[in-house]
Amino acid sequence: MTKHTALPGFRDFYPEEMSRRQQIFEAWHEVARRFGFDLYDGPPLEALELYVEKSGPEIVNQLFNFTDKGGREVALRPEMTPTLVRMVGARIKGMPRPVRWASMPQLFRYEKQQRGRLREHFQLNLDIIGEESVLADADLLAAALDVLRLLGLGPGDVVARVSDRRLLHGTLVQEGVKEADLPLALSVIDKIEREPRPELLERLARLGIDRARGEKILDLTALDRAELRRRYGSSPAVVEALDRLDDYFEALAALGFADWVVFDMKIVRGLAYYTGIVFEIFDRKGELRAICGGGRYDGLFSSLAGIDVPALGFGFGDVVLGELLKERKLARTEARPADLAIVAVDESVRAEALRTVSRLRAAGLGVVFPYRAAGVGKALKAAGAAGIREAIVFGPDEAASGELVVRDLAAGTERRTTLEQYLKEAGDRTGR
Ligand code: HAM
Repeated sequence: MTKHTALPGFRDFYPEEMSRRQQIFEAWHEVARRFGFDLYDGPPLEALELYVEKSGPEIVNQLFNFTDKGGREVALRPEMTPTLVRMVGARIKGMPRPVRWASMPQLFRYEKQQRGRLREHFQLNLDIIGEESVLADADLLAAALDVLRLLGLGPGDVVARVSDRRLLHGTLVQEGVKEADLPLALSVIDKIEREPRPELLERLARLGIDRARGEKILDLTALDRAELRRRYGSSPAVVEALDRLDDYFEALAALGFADWVVFDMKIVRGLAYYTGIVFEIFDRKGELRAICGGGRYDGLFSSLAGIDVPALGFGFGDVVLGELLKERKLARTEARPADLAIVAVDESVRAEALRTVSRLRAAGLGVVFPYRAAGVGKALKAAGAAGIREAIVFGPDEAASGELVVRDLAAGTERRTTLEQYLKEAGDRTGR
C-alpha cells in the first residue's frame, strides 16, 4: 500500500472508470458533431478576476485560487463560460454567426464532497453565440437530451425542467418585487427545493415582502403556463415570455423530445448571468443532483468582452451522468481489449511474427504479443482471459508458407487463412 492517495474530491481513473469516462466522451463528441458544433479549448488556469465579477457568489466561494510566482491572482477554471466569452469576444468580428462551439473541459470547484459533487469534473459545454431565435434555445436542449438518448436513457429516466428568467421577472414585478430586488428574489426561488419554507419567507421578508405576498410568490412557481397566462395576461412582458415558450416547446416536440421536457418555474439556475430561458436536466426519480444545466445569457458578452451579442449554452457534467449510467446498468466497465494476439511458437520465427504484428497494426487492428516465451498454451490462455477474441499462432511452417492459423479464443476453433485474406476480412468487419 502506498501512503499517497488522491486528494479529496479528485478521482483516479483506473481502466474500468476510464472506460465509462470514454463512453461519456464518445457520446459528447458524437452529439457535438451531429449538431454541428466546432471543438475548442482554453487554459485550465485563468485570471481570478474573470470569475469574481460575473459568475456570482455560488461559484466564487468555491474557487481554487492562489497567487502565482509572478504575483498574479489566478484560479483553476470552475466553469467554461467566462473563458468562452473571453475567447469568442476577442475574435467575434470576423466570425460567421451564430458561432456554435463545443468543449469538454475539466473543471475545479472547492465544494463539499458529496454524491454527484466532486472537486473536479468534466463538462460538455455547448454554446451558441450571436443568435436570438428561440429555435436556438430549443436546438440546444435537444442536443443535451440527445446525449442521454445516445447513451441508452429515455424520457422515463430523465426530465428537462425549463423556465425563463424573463417570465420570472415579469411575474415577480407584478407581485410587487422591486427591479433592484429581483436577483435576490430569484435566489430565494432557486432554493425552493432545498430550504424549508419559513426560511424562504424570512429571506423574502428581508426584501420588504410581507408574509402573504411571500406565500403568493412561492406558490406561483407551481403554476402551469395556462394559469400564468390567466393571472398575468395583462403584463406584456409575461405574455411575450409565454408566447416564446410555446414556440420553444413546439420546436422541441418536432425535434423528437416532447416527452422529455416540462415547464417548471422553480428552475432559476444558480449562476448570476442567465437572462432568458433556463433549464436543468434531472433523473426522473429525483435522487441525484442536476445532470446538466444551462440557458441564455445575453448580457455576459457586453460585461466581459464589451460587445453586445446574445448567447446561450449549457454545461453537462460527467459525474451525475456516470452515476445514472451505473445505476441503470448502462455503463461500460471493461477496457477495450486488443483485437488479436500473435503468439510465436519459438525464437526462430520471432522476427517474422513481429513483422506480421506491425503490418496488422498498420492496418488499424489492435495487436499484442507475449514478451516472454512461456509456451503457446499459456499465452493463448492469458490472451483469452484478457478478453481478446482471436490469436494467430505463428510457427516455422506459417513463416515459410505465408499461411496463418487463426484461433477463436472463445470457441476454441481454428481456421487457416492468409495475411491478405485476414486483413480484408478485418477491414470488412471494422469498416476500415
Ligand atoms: P453549472 O450548473 O454550474 O453550470 O454546472 C453544470 C453541470 O455541471 C451540473 O449540472 C453538474 O452536472 C455539473 N457539475 C457542476 N459542479 C459539479 C461538481 N462539483 N461535481 C460534479 N459535477 C458538477 C455551469 O457551469 C455553466 N457554466 C454552464 C453553461 C455553459 N451555461 C452556459 N454555458
